[in-house]
Amino acid sequence: MLRNKQEDIDIKIKQEQIMQEYKEIKKIMKKVWENNKDDTYFDPDHLDNFDYRFMISWLGKTYKPEKILEIGTRSGCSLGCLLHSYDSYNNVEVFSFDLWREYELNILKNKKISSITSKFIPFQIKKKLAQNRVLRNLRYMNVETDELNINFFDGDSRCNVPNFFEKNNNIKLDYALVDGGHDKTTAWCDLMNVVNHVKNGGILVFDDLIDNYNLITVWNDFKKYFNKSFDFYDFMVSKGFAYAIRKE
Ligand SMILES: C[S@@+](CC[C@H](N)C(=O)[O-])C[C@H]1O[C@@H](n2cnc3c(N)ncnc32)[C@H](O)[C@@H]1O
Repeated sequence: MLRNKQEDIDIKIKQEQIMQEYKEIKKIMKKVWENNKDDTYFDPDHLDNFDYRFMISWLGKTYKPEKILEIGTRSGCSLGCLLHSYDSYNNVEVFSFDLWREYELNILKNKKISSITSKFIPFQIKKKLAQNRVLRNLRYMNVETDELNINFFDGDSRCNVPNFFEKNNNIKLDYALVDGGHDKTTAWCDLMNVVNHVKNGGILVFDDLIDNYNLITVWNDFKKYFNKSFDFYDFMVSKGFAYAIRKE
């Protein structure tokens, strides 16, 4: 897609603002990592120079979204980055969709020996443990989970998200993250299932555009369809990530 000079300057300015989050995110990662050494998502030494989590943290600080939907919460890293800077969580409502399958239980201090892979844990237990881990990690990231209204949904987002909106058609989102299944068909389906529920001024976040998953083709198709309805901000660094703000 052709870009004009002004768009390039805007992206550069945004990129510089977003980079400012580096130190704070690193500190927050460290706090979770020290209590959670089995979850490499929080390893501060694995942070890229320009990471999608800086962008999410910057979006949280700048826009303070209140109605939030995440497809792919995993262990709460992206959600914590979004929410860590809020003064209050009283008006915040989160809808969190995941399969909750990526859980490993560590029963001994020596995690290498004690790790029980998820296939040996019954799903109902695994799901609860995974969701509790999200809440615990959010607390490490300074989020007041007692104030927060967070709703967990388990199962395939391709069915669960449309089912959710069928029952809650009036919900308009300030923020949606699409970071669940990373095959192109699922990513496209998830984008399509949330896009019309993002309110004017609301934000849609998408990542893994380049690198292994190469979802750039999905994002470019999405941009073609919704060119008139959103302003797009793409950052083709690290693994490639983007956000879009609804303008009509
Ligand atoms: C890349 S991780 C999400 C990382 C998280 N957003 C973060 O940055 O901390 C992807 C998550 O999506 C979940 N997932 C994959 N396919 C899914 C599907 N079809 N429906 C719902 N969740 C899915 C996985 O279980 C995993 O937890």
